Amino acid sequence: MYRRIKSIALELLFLLELHDQVTSAELREAFLTQATGSECQTLAIGDSWTSVSPIMCCLECTLRYPDTCHSCVYNAHSQVCRPGSIAFRPLASVTTSIPERNSNDKIFYAKQPVPPCDTSRYFALYEICGSTLCLNLTATEVNFIQAQTNCAQMNSRLFIANSLVRFSLYWHVSRDHLNYYTWLGLTDIDEEGKFVWDDGEPLSGEMNKYIWDYQQPDSLGNEDCTEARHPARWDPVGINDIECWHTKYYICEA
Ligand SMILES: *[C@@H]1O[C@H](CO)[C@@H](O)[C@H](O)[C@H]1NC(C)=O
Repeated sequence: MYRRIKSIALELLFLLELHDQVTSAELREAFLTQATGSECQTLAIGDSWTSVSPIMCCLECTLRYPDTCHSCVYNAHSQVCRPGSIAFRPLASVTTSIPERNSNDKIFYAKQPVPPCDTSRYFALYEICGSTLCLNLTATEVNFIQAQTNCAQMNSRLFIANSLVRFSLYWHVSRDHLNYYTWLGLTDIDEEGKFVWDDGEPLSGEMNKYIWDYQQPDSLGNEDCTEARHPARWDPVGINDIECWHTKYYICEA
């Protein structure tokens, strides 16, 4: 990642030096995608500074934070530049993201590496704000164990959402593509109250803050599995814990 960002930064510098005529809009097109805060957001990774243009803002961001700057937020009026992590679609449960909702600031993000994906069989690529994942969305209702088995049969596993970017992708494909109750690869089957992703990684404290719907998990009865509930009459901001025998749609990741 460091080398990729560094090479983007060097190419930008090169272009800036050699082509004064090239407008910053053209430069932007080539390396960065521009969006508003209602399309894509990010988390601030450091304090703001002022920059003369969005390109300089993003360039300085990659130079100051070579390993972690994946996006930058720029206000053309105030010239305030804010460094950001990977961009993701706005999530109702994440209230600390930049740009703030309804602000005029623009977010610029670089496309992340696309994972290998056999799109000729079962899988397709889904992109959100520059991040792409190789998924199979199955609109057939099965219980949790069956969903795990079906994913394994395609040499894949149930989708895990162990980062904000992955949670944002899960939320949006389950809502915008499946639009139905959808399993997530996160359970506390082995030890009540200790949620673990399907690859064995424990749920981090950071992600624990962001993924749950109001007052969840409530561990009513024997609710060891997790789901997104789309569409719901209320507007869920995150996932719910539920008994594993229920049947739902599911998402496999290659
Ligand atoms: C997803 O996998 C199922 C098999 O579990 C398959 O029937 C379906 O065609 C796949 N979806 C796509 C888009 O390939």
